[in-house]
Amino acid sequence: MNAGRAKKANLAVFVSGRGSNLDSIISSCADGELEPLARVALVVASKSSAAALEIAESSGIDRFIYSKDIPLENLLAALADRDVSFIVLAGYVKKIEDEILQNFSGNILNIHPALLPKFGGKGMYGKKVHQAVIESGEKVSGATVHYVSEVYDAGKILDQETVSIDADETVDSLAVKVLQIEHELYPRSIAIALRSL
Ligand code: GRF
Repeated sequence: MNAGRAKKANLAVFVSGRGSNLDSIISSCADGELEPLARVALVVASKSSAAALEIAESSGIDRFIYSKDIPLENLLAALADRDVSFIVLAGYVKKIEDEILQNFSGNILNIHPALLPKFGGKGMYGKKVHQAVIESGEKVSGATVHYVSEVYDAGKILDQETVSIDADETVDSLAVKVLQIEHELYPRSIAIALRSL
């Protein structure tokens, strides 16, 4: 894509919780790595209680609650209505259906709070990841941005950033460090992915 002439890519950001990565992506579209490459056209939440929805609302971004009782067709229609071409998972805990993987093949990214291929896979999320890293005695951890495939956390790695693990590191202190680097890494990686389309 030529950033100078092509129109902005419409992103959908999928969330389930806090939304700090969503926040950094929105900011980055306004005045950062993703300006003028992309805009967030839709925020998809797996539950209505996700705090990330408030961030979307205060930024004037359309929201779609994709809870258990909502058919996949409705989500696909919401994405199509907004001409979404690229999906960004930011703390989204539900499995991505095959039909979405096919429709957005090569155009879905996820961020994981560790250095994949270690410490990933089904059930490895949140503090469990940092706990496993510390227990393993690793001296570094970090965050990984990867393309999404049928297997949890196993798609092609796009970019990584590391943090050192101090002798007195705790799960909570490591979580803070890693989240901080995610906020720079993710917009930068999305920009790389969009430029390579
Ligand atoms: C991040 O740590 C990310 O790596 C993981 O889920 C967390 C989401 O945090 N996939 P937030 O909702 O963006 O604050």
